[in-house]
Amino acid sequence: MIEARGHEPVLVRECLWALAVRPGGRYVDGTLGLGGHARAVLEASAPDGRVLGVDRDAELLPLARANLAGFGDRAVVWHGSYAEIGRALMKVSWRNVDGILLDLGVCSVHLDDATRGFSFSREAPLDMRFDRALGESARAWLERVDDRVLADALVTFAEERRPARVVRAIRDAIRRKTLNTTRDLADIARATMRGSRTHHPGTRLFQAIRIAVNRELDELHLFLEKMADWVSPGGRVAIIAYHSLEDRPVKEAFRRLAQGGDWELLSKKVVRPGPDETRHNRRARSARLRAIARTGVS
Ligand SMILES: C[S@@+](CC[C@H](N)C(=O)[O-])C[C@H]1O[C@@H](n2cnc3c(N)ncnc32)[C@H](O)[C@@H]1O
Repeated sequence: MIEARGHEPVLVRECLWALAVRPGGRYVDGTLGLGGHARAVLEASAPDGRVLGVDRDAELLPLARANLAGFGDRAVVWHGSYAEIGRALMKVSWRNVDGILLDLGVCSVHLDDATRGFSFSREAPLDMRFDRALGESARAWLERVDDRVLADALVTFAEERRPARVVRAIRDAIRRKTLNTTRDLADIARATMRGSRTHHPGTRLFQAIRIAVNRELDELHLFLEKMADWVSPGGRVAIIAYHSLEDRPVKEAFRRLAQGGDWELLSKKVVRPGPDETRHNRRARSARLRAIARTGVS
């Protein structure tokens, strides 16, 4: 198994429970990453369960493929967004699936890769795209958007109370041609934003720009609107979110579906990792899982 340092899939047991993984089942891992969750689903659905792994980052797919090679044709990978799972299903000729898992956000391999620009603690060009073949880099986005869009992103995605200062510093740096790398942006965060006891201010600034550049919340909303088309009766959807911006739309969409009567929530409360998991896996600390089941028998 090729692993990034410190990478461990989060809430694995809980995901297997939420998806009710069983032999012969068909599952989509919509955020395949290095394949940690997919591997657990394949093991739990042996000998004949199948997983279609989807990821927007083409650069991770060979690593995931290598990690899942031992499962033969029970594991298939597809490059694209989880908002387009319908296209991936057509490729493998599945009408629908027994379960879909999303584990949102960045992989530790992204943070560790010094060329990607996701981490404020590694000097790199300001890119931050999950798919480097699509859209514009963080640097290009910062240069193009107007001040109001940038300030809105800071308020909404970084919960920044004084966005004007940050916007001004970014504009100045672009004008002076001193905003080129992650270090330059981290310096702006340090000079203009508040950190906390546990977080560098860069955490919030990088998160906001990453969400905006990848349109992460738009993709999530699209998924939530379309997912009912992809899940068989009795099938399930489980989503792990890492901050309230992601968790809120999931909670609201699941509640609406459950009120409609064709779906039921698998637990009233959000599922969080226990102390054992959070002790040895930092990333798990902010993880929250929600899951929903489509009523009816498959
Ligand atoms: C937290 S990682 C998943 C880790 C994975 N569960 C594992 O065990 O290795 C999130 C992954 O989602 C991918 N991703 C982000 N947005 C996506 C989208 N809209 N569609 C598909 N993949 C996406 C990222 O490229 C990243 O690989």
